[in-house]
Amino acid sequence: MSRLDASALNAACEAEALPWRVQVVDEIGSTSDAVREAALSGEASGLVLFAESQTAGRGRRDNRWITPKGKDLMFSLLLRPEVPAALWSRLTTLAALAICRAIEIELPLQPMIKWPNDVYLHDRKVSGLLAEVVTPKTGMALVLGIGLNVNTDQFPPDLESSATSLLSGLQRPIIRELDRQQLALVLLRQLHAQFERLDHGFHEAVAEVRERSWLIGRQIRATVDGSELFGRAMDLNSEGHLVLALPDGALTTLSSAEGVRQVV
Ligand code: BTN
Repeated sequence: MSRLDASALNAACEAEALPWRVQVVDEIGSTSDAVREAALSGEASGLVLFAESQTAGRGRRDNRWITPKGKDLMFSLLLRPEVPAALWSRLTTLAALAICRAIEIELPLQPMIKWPNDVYLHDRKVSGLLAEVVTPKTGMALVLGIGLNVNTDQFPPDLESSATSLLSGLQRPIIRELDRQQLALVLLRQLHAQFERLDHGFHEAVAEVRERSWLIGRQIRATVDGSELFGRAMDLNSEGHLVLALPDGALTTLSSAEGVRQVV
């Protein structure tokens, strides 16, 4: 189990003109909390903080995000997008696509995007995204936290049937450990490449997200502004928002939702 090497990642970022400044820490409460603090102190866009372990890792809806030390990838990016804040939600869509592309490039796997913030493998969650806006006096920022299960092979009982890792997802794993350093680099490349599509090229990116959609065609329930909605996921519109057919046949479009799950 080798530690992530920040120097090698920074050297690669410099050689490839990627806009990231990478830091790796052994243990931290939450990378997103630390990057948020950095944003509040005026840190420039492009900081990427990886942690080998988190003691207070957070997911959406106050869920915890805890994985064994050194097995997976947990990191947060500080972004100061130069587009109107109304377009910032596109970054979550593009980050989900970047995670899928990185997995596809490195491994014989077909990840799917479970709108809005998860990546699935074989109907189980392999990655989650946490996007948080910071509004300091030094300018607005977005902290994008990403957890990707890479080598974890055991999950707590409450997650056993719903979570997986890249290693567990391989049909015939011929190795006992995937190379996190290589995956981290490909992810950083992909995040940059996909974020370049934030303004021009976003609608083409949505087409690629649609091809990888886990949700489309499924009967779902979701919480929107505190109310529960049922319906069939029909499509993603050009903004990457979910088009839902309600039980009475009416179509509604959701820009975000919590607790999205399939109803069987
Ligand atoms: C979710 O699926 O609910 C989102 C999970 C996000 C987890 C990552 S791990 C790195 C970063 N630091 C955190 O505390 N959370 C995010």
